[in-house]
Amino acid sequence: MRYRQVADNTGQKPLRRFGARLTEREKSTMQNFILHTPTKILFGKQQIAEMAGQIPADARILITYGGGSVKKNGVLDQVYSALAGRDVREFSGIEPNPTYETLIKAVEVVKAENIDFLLAVGGGSVVDGTKFIAAAARYTADSDAWHILQTVGSHITDAVPMGCVLTLPATGSESNSGAVITRKSSGDKQHFFSPLVQPRFAVLDPVVTYSLPPRQVANGVVDAFVHTLEQYLTYPVDAKVQDRFAEGLLLTLLEDGPRALAEPENYAVRANVMWSATMALNGLIGAGVPQDWATHMLGHELTAMHDLDHAQTLAIVLPALLHEKKAQKREKLLQYAERVWGLREGSEDSRIDDAIAATRAFFEQMGVPTRMADYQLDGSSIPALLDKLQQHGMTALGEHQDITLDVSRRIYEAAR
Ligand code: NZQ
Ligand code: ZN
Repeated sequence: MRYRQVADNTGQKPLRRFGARLTEREKSTMQNFILHTPTKILFGKQQIAEMAGQIPADARILITYGGGSVKKNGVLDQVYSALAGRDVREFSGIEPNPTYETLIKAVEVVKAENIDFLLAVGGGSVVDGTKFIAAAARYTADSDAWHILQTVGSHITDAVPMGCVLTLPATGSESNSGAVITRKSSGDKQHFFSPLVQPRFAVLDPVVTYSLPPRQVANGVVDAFVHTLEQYLTYPVDAKVQDRFAEGLLLTLLEDGPRALAEPENYAVRANVMWSATMALNGLIGAGVPQDWATHMLGHELTAMHDLDHAQTLAIVLPALLHEKKAQKREKLLQYAERVWGLREGSEDSRIDDAIAATRAFFEQMGVPTRMADYQLDGSSIPALLDKLQQHGMTALGEHQDITLDVSRRIYEAAR
């Protein structure tokens, strides 16, 4: 019996059998798992002020942030107040879909200034970028830190400890061990995992999300929704807790996602959205269940090539992927149709089609279009996207590793 480690988007590395089919009995029961969620969560109003105790008193701290939203909305001021009297420097300019080219400059700062704690203040891009900085600053396996991405983080042996103040509920990066980094010069967007880069703490104050532009609110809800589906819409293993937690997250996002757009300063709504996004990708709902991250892998290539927002790519790929994999996902699609969308009437096929259509309509309702054409893409780049998937080893995706390049081509074609 052969095994290989299959990295997933939560940073867990469950052992999955490779090269042998699961027996029906194995398929129908929960897989073994080890779950460790070590990020301390400071949730709620004014929690930024409580953060100082989480960072060693004598630490040389580097605050990292993005293009300046944290200056405009006062979050950075709150951070500085919380860290009054501490040894603090800052590095700004981490862009959405953070790039190696920018981050490597921060790595030099960390080394030159002997930084021993990193504090990311921003969305998933700043948190991911800071994870890369944390690992690259102490990387010894290769002289080029891009090696971290090429080896999915498997050679990381040390990292600068980090914490974060999250300003955009979406990625779950605040309490997981994964990160996605772009190398502009080569057009690659790739991920890595390491428990060493998992944030020690994450401050989640829903109030700081009031200033999000609608596009980013929508992106965050779609991203969290898709993370949940990728750990849920596979095949049943009688994982009742994981399934019902996942359904709870989906129902919450359906209910409060549109309300976050309509009532930006509704604290209760923002709190529910923020906690849903964290719980969608902190490892909990994915423990012991099969997972299918193909939507993300196909999406990353769209972002790298066409600069689409991460969630826009997911909204494009997911409905097409669900249609393509209807047969393999049939039982869970029926469960999703019934428990999330309340679809109980009509034939099984029509319920499945209606659930996929409702998912698409939800993304559109949030303001995230679901076809390539909506983003002025005519599909002519599909061969190049497939080349990139191949280069990145993404040739056997999905819970059955049966999303080959040919299947990916059909998914991209159907998403035009
Ligand atoms: O750069 P600033 O000025 O801060 O503005 C940001 C940025 O322009 C703005 N923003 C964030 N918080 C704000 C705010 N504007 C006003 N008020 C606030 N409170 O929002 C814009 C987008 O931010 P970004 O961090 O790029 O968004 P997101 O959190 O969606 O992160 C996307 C990145 O995360 C990766 C994606 O691939 C993408 O690179 N992901 C990381 C994952 C992980 N580590 O587990 C999983 C995800 O699937 C995803 O792949
Ligand atoms: Zn995502």
